Amino acid sequence: MDGKEAAARRAVQEIESGMVVGLGTGSTATFAIRAIGERIQKEGLAVRGLPTSQRSEALARVVGIPLLDFSQVTELDLTIDGADEVDNAFNLIKGGGGALVQEKIVAAASRKMVIICDSSKVKSTLGAFPLPIAIVRFGWHSTLRKLEGFGHEVSLRRLPDGSPFVSDDGLYIADMHCGTIPNPPDYVARIKRIVGVAEVGLFVGLATAVVIGKDDGTTEVRLPS
Ligand code: A5P
Repeated sequence: MDGKEAAARRAVQEIESGMVVGLGTGSTATFAIRAIGERIQKEGLAVRGLPTSQRSEALARVVGIPLLDFSQVTELDLTIDGADEVDNAFNLIKGGGGALVQEKIVAAASRKMVIICDSSKVKSTLGAFPLPIAIVRFGWHSTLRKLEGFGHEVSLRRLPDGSPFVSDDGLYIADMHCGTIPNPPDYVARIKRIVGVAEVGLFVGLATAVVIGKDDGTTEVRLPS
C-alpha cells in the first residue's frame, strides 16, 4: 500500500452511517471512493456521496455509493479530497486534475474537510506546484494577460493534442507558476478581483484535518494546533 492509499483508508475510517460525504477528485481521492464502496459492501455503511467531478461520480456509481446533488443538500458532514500541496496552516493548492471549482464549492459547504495525501505534498511554503486558476472561456487571452500582471509565467492548460483543457464546468484552466506564495489569503483576494477569473485553486480556511500517508502504510493525522 502506498502513502496515498494509506491516507485515504485512514480518512474513510472517520465516516459514520448517516453522513453526507463530499467525494474528492484525483488519484488519492480515488482510493477513498473505493474504500467507501468497500465499507458499504462489507459493513452496510449507510452513507450518501456528493461528487466533485464527473470522474468521481462515475467511480462512485461503479462502487455502489448512493449519490446526492446540491438540490438535496444544505450542508455536508465531511469532504475527503486530495491536494497538490498543503502547508502547515492547512492552506492548499488544488486543481491539478482541473476540478477545483466543484471541489471548492463542495468543501465550502462541508462542516469538515479532510485532506489526504502522501508526504511529498506537504510543504513549508506553497507555490512550487503551478497554481490552477479556472477562467471563463470568453476573453481568455485578456484574462491571461491580466494574470501575467502578477509577474509570474502563466500558461493555458492544454490537452496532448494542443487544444485547451475544458473543465467539467466548461471553464479553461490557467496555471500560474508562482514559485512561492508567501501570503495565500492575499493571493486569493487579488486574483479573484480579475474579471474573467471564476475560481482560484488556492484553498484557505477550508481544510480541518490533514492525513499524511507514508509508504510503509502508516499515517499521521494533523489537526489544527
Ligand atoms: C483535482 O482537481 C485536484 O484538486 C486533486 O485533488 C489534486 O490534484 C491531487 O491529486 P492527486 O491525488 O492525484 O495527487
